[in-house]
Amino acid sequence: MFSHTLFSFLTVALVASTALAQVRHRDPLVVRHYGVRDFRAAEQEQRHDMLAARANSNLRFNYGKDKVRGVGIGGWLVIEDFITPSIYRQTGDHRVIDEWSFAKYTPYNKAVQILQDHYDNFITESDFAEISAYNLNHVRVPFPYWGIRKWRGEPYIKLNQFEKLKQAAHWAHKYNLKMIIELHTVPGGANPYDHGGHTNHTNWLGNEKYENRWLEILDVLAEEFSQSKYPAVTGISIVNEPNGDANQIYGQYRRGYNTVRRHDSDAELLVIIGDAFQNPASSDFWSDKFSAPQFQQVMLDTHIYRLFDPPSIALTQDQRIQYYCGLKKGLAKANNHLYTLIGEWSPAFTDCAPGLNGRFLGHRYDGSFPGSTRRGSCQGRTGNANQFSRGFKANLKKNFEAQADAYSSGAGWIMWTWKVENHNADEWSYRAGVQNGWIPHNPTHLDYHCP
Ligand SMILES: *[C@@H]1O[C@H](CO)[C@@H](O)[C@H](O)[C@H]1NC(C)=O
Repeated sequence: MFSHTLFSFLTVALVASTALAQVRHRDPLVVRHYGVRDFRAAEQEQRHDMLAARANSNLRFNYGKDKVRGVGIGGWLVIEDFITPSIYRQTGDHRVIDEWSFAKYTPYNKAVQILQDHYDNFITESDFAEISAYNLNHVRVPFPYWGIRKWRGEPYIKLNQFEKLKQAAHWAHKYNLKMIIELHTVPGGANPYDHGGHTNHTNWLGNEKYENRWLEILDVLAEEFSQSKYPAVTGISIVNEPNGDANQIYGQYRRGYNTVRRHDSDAELLVIIGDAFQNPASSDFWSDKFSAPQFQQVMLDTHIYRLFDPPSIALTQDQRIQYYCGLKKGLAKANNHLYTLIGEWSPAFTDCAPGLNGRFLGHRYDGSFPGSTRRGSCQGRTGNANQFSRGFKANLKKNFEAQADAYSSGAGWIMWTWKVENHNADEWSYRAGVQNGWIPHNPTHLDYHCP
C-alpha cells in the first residue's frame, strides 16, 4: 500500500516535472515566432538554465571550472592497424583489415592468443602511472560493443575486454585520473572506417534492430559505471563518429541519453555525444539542443584533424596554426551551452603513418592513396622519432601547443593517442612526444600561445 502510494506520488511528480520541462524547453520553431528581442531573452534564459545545471551538478569532475587534459588509450580494446600493426601482421593473412576480418579469417585459438596477449601487455597499470606523471587528468578509453555481447552471424571475438575496462577504471582512480568510457563500435556500424569494426558497414543509423542492440549495450555500460565504486568514471561517450544526417543522429542521441539516465537519474555521468561532423566552433547546429532543464550534463565531443583531405594536407605550417587558433573563440562560445570537449586531435599533420587510412591503403600526402595528389615524400614524416628532423619536431611542437591552448577555451582536450607500438608512427604518440621534447612534461607550461 505504502509503496503504491509512493509510486502514485512519484508518477504525479514525474508527469508534472516532465510537463514543466516541456514548457520551459525552447523549441526553435516556437522561438521563431517571437521577435529578435524575445529570442535574445530566450537565449539568455537558456544560458541561465545551463549554468544553473552546472552549478548544481553531481558530476565526478568539475567540468564547469577545471579543464580536461588527457589522452585516448587508442589501439588497446579496439584495434587500429596504425597503432598496433603487429596484431593483423601476426595472422600472415592479407585479407585481415579490421576486427571483423581478423576474427573471420584467423584460426580461433590463434586469434584469441594474439588478442589476449595484446590486452594484457599493450596497456598495463604502469601506463596509467606514467600518464598521471605527465600532468594529465583524463583518459578516454575506446571500447568495442562485442566485449559485452555479440549477435548471431558476427565473427567478433569476445574475451575479457569488459573486465579490462573495469580494471582500467580502478587504475585510473589509483593514479588520480578521470576516465571517459567511449563506445567506439556499435552494432551495424556507425561509420565506414576500419576502427568501427567492419570496414564500409554503416548500418546502425535508421535500423531499428541495430539501434535497439546499441541501447542494450549502453544499458549495461550505464548500469555498471553509474555505481559509486567507479569514482574515476565521469562519462559515457555513446557512439563514435556516426556518419549520416545530423538531425537523425540527434534523435538517436536522445534515446541513448534516456537509456543512460535510467541508471544514472541524478546525472553523475556525462552523456557525451559526437558532433556528427557539425563542428561547434563554426556551426550552431548544437547550440539549441540538449538544453537544461530537460537534459542534464550533456557534453559535446568534437574531433579535429587537418590531414585526411586534400585542402588540409596542402596547408602551410602557418596556415595550420592560424586554423587551430581560429577555433578558440567559437569553442568558448559553444562551451557556454554544452560542455565542449575536443576528444580527438593530434599534432601530426600528414596521413603518412602506415595503416592510418586502413591496412595496405596508402597516403594522400605522397600520392599513394587512391585518387590523391602527391604533395611530398613521407620519408622522415612518420616512424621512429629518432629519424625526425629538428624542423619537423618544431612543427609538431607548435601544432601541439597551439591546439592545447585553443582547445582549453572549451572544456579541454584529449589527444589521440597515448602510444604507438614499436615506433610505427611516433608523431601520433603522446608518450613519444614527451620523451622526444615536442610535448612539454607539463602540458599547461606552453612556449606558444594563440594570439
Ligand atoms: C570501401 O569502400 C571504398 C569506396 O567505395 C572502396 O574503394 C573500398 O575498396 C572498400 N573497402 C572494402 C574493404 O570493401
